[in-house]
Amino acid sequence: MANKERLRQHLETMSKFTATPNEGMTRYSYSPEDVKTRTYIKEKMEQYGLTVSEDGLGNIFGKLEGTKESAPSVLIGSHFDSVPHGGNYDGPAGIMAGLEVAALFQEYGIKPAYPLEVIALIEEEGSRFGGGLMGSRGINGLITDEEFHTILDKDGISVIEAMQEAGLDSSLPKHRDPKTMKAFLELHIEQGPVLEEENITIGVVDAIVGLTQFEVTVEGKAGHAGTTPMGRRSDALITAATIVSELPKLAIDEGNGTVITTGQFAVFPNGSNVIPDKVVFSIDLRSGEDVSIQRVMEKVQALIESHQKDGIQTSIEQQLYIKPKELSEEIRSYLKESTEKLGISSIPMLSGAGHDAMVFSDYTEAGMIFIPSKDGLSHCPEEWSSLEHLAKGVDILFETAKKLTEAE
Ligand code: GLV
Ligand code: MN
Ligand code: MN
Repeated sequence: MANKERLRQHLETMSKFTATPNEGMTRYSYSPEDVKTRTYIKEKMEQYGLTVSEDGLGNIFGKLEGTKESAPSVLIGSHFDSVPHGGNYDGPAGIMAGLEVAALFQEYGIKPAYPLEVIALIEEEGSRFGGGLMGSRGINGLITDEEFHTILDKDGISVIEAMQEAGLDSSLPKHRDPKTMKAFLELHIEQGPVLEEENITIGVVDAIVGLTQFEVTVEGKAGHAGTTPMGRRSDALITAATIVSELPKLAIDEGNGTVITTGQFAVFPNGSNVIPDKVVFSIDLRSGEDVSIQRVMEKVQALIESHQKDGIQTSIEQQLYIKPKELSEEIRSYLKESTEKLGISSIPMLSGAGHDAMVFSDYTEAGMIFIPSKDGLSHCPEEWSSLEHLAKGVDILFETAKKLTEAE
């Protein structure tokens, strides 16, 4: 059974590594906080008898060898980057769970036939480099080695440069042969209110919504706020604000659980008495149905183009597109069996958040469980889940990992 004291220690330690103490978790990939967290994760992996390695993106792996020769691994983990001013659980809860499963394998002296690998992924949120799911997309070969030189953060630093600054070895291999993976398991907080409201401990994820993200640029002409007549302006901000205000209707009209969000909005040159000449903003669009994403995506593009006029230029760059993903039926049934065996309540769920499991699901058997989130809150400092629920989630993963790693 999971050891809550070990879980509490992981939580307490990892929660300290934030760039914004007392104002939530801000842990960007390859930052000093990333380095402190990865050092802790690697120490714990070693303590639990795992062989530690990193890939050329800084993803971390802790492996317990199996008795079967050259057998593929059962991976368990999640990401350790965060959104700005986020919480302590989104991502790390899944790594703590992976570490605890490894600790239990060690405690019970389990010698698996298939290797068990705890995995800690970088840049799932995309808070530093945009797009998101970069660790899992990188591992699975969806981003080329050359692209890591041209994906830049807002200061113009590339992934490769950022890794080097953090003392990581970007020359190590980045891609992983799918033949080396037997399964990928991820525990995550629900980030919504359903489990808490229904008093259920575990959500077994059936499917994950599809999502796409865009960066939109609107360019106009700068000028003096006092001397330029209203009829002679090319104000980039007025156009950008109009576009953003028209986006929600596109999602509402589509229905089908489609949601659209602008969370980033940068105005240039950003002076109170200067007419803005440039605005850059984000669009995040999600739905459980790919046709809905496609339809709204076309409408978004048409809307943005329709605002192009004399003196106003618009452009749109797609940073991420991933279809809705159904998770492995086999793993779902193992997870469900484990909840029944342990007498833990569960319901099937659809995930409205994106997760690394959706990327792995194209390359290996992927499964996910959710634990309740207090007041349904996430991506904010108030994010909280109980150690009790985390421990129950670990017990389910432990049962499932034992089954998946034993000889057939
Ligand atoms: C990750 O939290 C996402 O769903 O964007
Ligand atoms: Mn998140
Ligand atoms: Mn997450």
